[in-house]
Amino acid sequence: MAGFSLALIPGDGIGVEVMESARQVLGVVQSTYDVTFTTTELDWSCERYHRTGAMMPTDGLDVLGRHDAILLGAVGWPGVPDHVSLWGLLIPIRRAFTQYVNLRPMRIFDGVPAPVRPEIAAGTDFVVVRENSEGEYSEVGGRIGQGASEVALQESTFSRTGVQRIAEYAMRLAERRGGRVHSATKSNGIIHTMTLWDEVVDEVAARHPDVTVRREHVDAMAARMVMRPTDFDVVVASNLFGDILSDLAAAVCGSIGIAPSANLAPDGPGPSMFEPVHGSAPDIAGQGIANPIGMLWSVVLMLEHLRLPAPAAALMAAIESSLRDPATRTADLGGTASTGEVTEYIKARVSEESG
Ligand code: NAI
Ligand code: MG
Repeated sequence: MAGFSLALIPGDGIGVEVMESARQVLGVVQSTYDVTFTTTELDWSCERYHRTGAMMPTDGLDVLGRHDAILLGAVGWPGVPDHVSLWGLLIPIRRAFTQYVNLRPMRIFDGVPAPVRPEIAAGTDFVVVRENSEGEYSEVGGRIGQGASEVALQESTFSRTGVQRIAEYAMRLAERRGGRVHSATKSNGIIHTMTLWDEVVDEVAARHPDVTVRREHVDAMAARMVMRPTDFDVVVASNLFGDILSDLAAAVCGSIGIAPSANLAPDGPGPSMFEPVHGSAPDIAGQGIANPIGMLWSVVLMLEHLRLPAPAAALMAAIESSLRDPATRTADLGGTASTGEVTEYIKARVSEESG
């Protein structure tokens, strides 16, 4: 029997609620399939920050390093500045384990009411491959001067190696999918980092003649994502552009509540980390109405990563089935179900799928 150790970080707000769904679904996977999960519960959160002054303990990264995968809900809560929660937990994890790929798939599901007209959006199915280790999210810079003369500087870092490896990942993914890559750029305005990005993407593209690579300015790409979302197969983008485009993609497909992500360490020992795209949603936290699909689809990505294709496919089928009917959809998708009701339905379907 295959066995895996998982580090679970529920975090804050609805992160805790959707983690409970994941925990229950993993329980069903474990009792239905030939696999066991040993879990470590970690209370790393803004609540912990208030108590101890840090988002995670000093040996936090060592603790995570002893696991096969990390599952995270969401972190962030009013009262703790968002840059503290992000730089105190998520970014150190992504960087310490060289999780340089942030994979964000998105699809229009059967039955889900999307804000874009169905004749335009039907069949939308693409993956954003976001660079996850460098780019615009950098600590280099500072603030000088005071009052009206205050100036802030923020440097981006784009390394040849960093761009190369993310472009390579995107091309290989496209070879297994529809053979098309859109590269998000802005080299007309951002003349140093984005021209390096374009050059390196072209070099990598030349090694993948079967992939059609199209370069597009990120603003035009954002418009295309709304007007012609079916044009996309694989989108490769820098840290910031990928972050924005993937929220847009989720909105085009119905709700941020269904969007999953994988922080992958393709070259390193890992572990990789799986988390919904959404945040802790303080506006709906505690009401039991959070959509658990973003989290559960992230669990699908984790199961695939752990080479457990059968439970991954069963869970994905259960998700698709829940989305078809408003009675098993949460309010953000125009449904009436609670987080718990969606979870119960999916658990039942997963155990059926195997039988
Ligand atoms: P958010 O994603 O938490 O919420 C944006 C909007 O989407 C809200 O109206 C919320 O109710 C709705 N929403 C999000 N997830 C949902 C779900 N599963 N079901 C139904 N509705 C859902 O983003 P926001 O408001 O910008 O950030 C809130 C906090 O979360 C902040 O502290 C922020 O820093 C943090 N955050 C953390 C992330 C992470 O842990 N990876 C990612 C994004 C934000
Ligand atoms: Mg985001």
